[in-house]
Amino acid sequence: MIKLLILYACALACVSSCYGNAVPLKEENTLLPLCGGYMFVDDEVVIDGPFNENCILQFETQEDRILAFSVLDGDMKDALQFLNIHDGFGIDSPILKVENQIVHKVSRKDRPTILYTKNSEAIVRFTKTPTDSNFQLMIQKAVDCPLGIGDNTQCGSVVDDVSCHCAVFNTKSFTDMTMYCLDYKMKLVIFENRTEEEIIQKTWGTQYAYWTSLTDARRDGTWVWESTMSVLSAGNYTNWFPGRPSRVANNVDDCMLYGGATYLNFWGDIDCATLARGICEVKP
Ligand SMILES: *[C@@H]1O[C@H](CO)[C@@H](O)[C@H](O)[C@H]1NC(C)=O
Ligand SMILES: *[C@@H]1O[C@H](CO)[C@@H](O)[C@H](O)[C@H]1NC(C)=O
Repeated sequence: MIKLLILYACALACVSSCYGNAVPLKEENTLLPLCGGYMFVDDEVVIDGPFNENCILQFETQEDRILAFSVLDGDMKDALQFLNIHDGFGIDSPILKVENQIVHKVSRKDRPTILYTKNSEAIVRFTKTPTDSNFQLMIQKAVDCPLGIGDNTQCGSVVDDVSCHCAVFNTKSFTDMTMYCLDYKMKLVIFENRTEEEIIQKTWGTQYAYWTSLTDARRDGTWVWESTMSVLSAGNYTNWFPGRPSRVANNVDDCMLYGGATYLNFWGDIDCATLARGICEVKP
């Protein structure tokens, strides 16, 4: 029933990041909600009103991803006074509550409240007209971040609200760590900039060495972030320990790790068979 009403209302598909008005329904039939809409969230969308009582909005994202709801320049907790977010399309789908959210010990606590669904669909129902007429709802595609991925691991949304990083504390070779991440549909971490590296180093420390996905095993001297197969080129962020990487021809130091007593919070190149901890990541 709900599904039919909303499909009748409109079908607004967002191919990538976009801002969109929920298309209001004409008030011809009093049985219909005053406004409504369906939207596929491919990256993130911001919806603004006008919203009013009985407004129903339906959102969906990629099947193996979840939805993250937040309020632009506001807090989701306050918004729950005039709207409900249901996890799923069904009429009986549960209402998301702030208290029900998984709390990751390592996730950043300095952000406003975000409500995450458990699956790829959600319905927003307005129970009242928002007091703030500029109320804007942001919906992002996100990764469902587990608390851990096997023994002796820890995960959290540490870099942003939609990605997930996991530290694997049992030491493994570079190849085994790569496979371990893959087993959980994750990849060894890439550092695109200092901010990202700093957040991760702050979260799990640099006392021990951690594998990243940077390697020159395929061709000596050409460093590649194996998780995306992107070549480390001039202008890219690097954080090598002074004198590294080794420029000796055919050296065996083909994999990059950071941390530990030798390289501290810098990048060091080392034999890929070395046993070290690792950071896995998955982005939406
Ligand atoms: C490296 O630089 C290239 C070219 O500027 C850019 O396209 C690429 O995203 C960068 N890679 C990383 C990992 O930051
Ligand atoms: C650093 O990289 C992350 C992607 O992992 C990106 O979200 C962020 O905007 C980047 N920060 C800067 C300052 O470029």
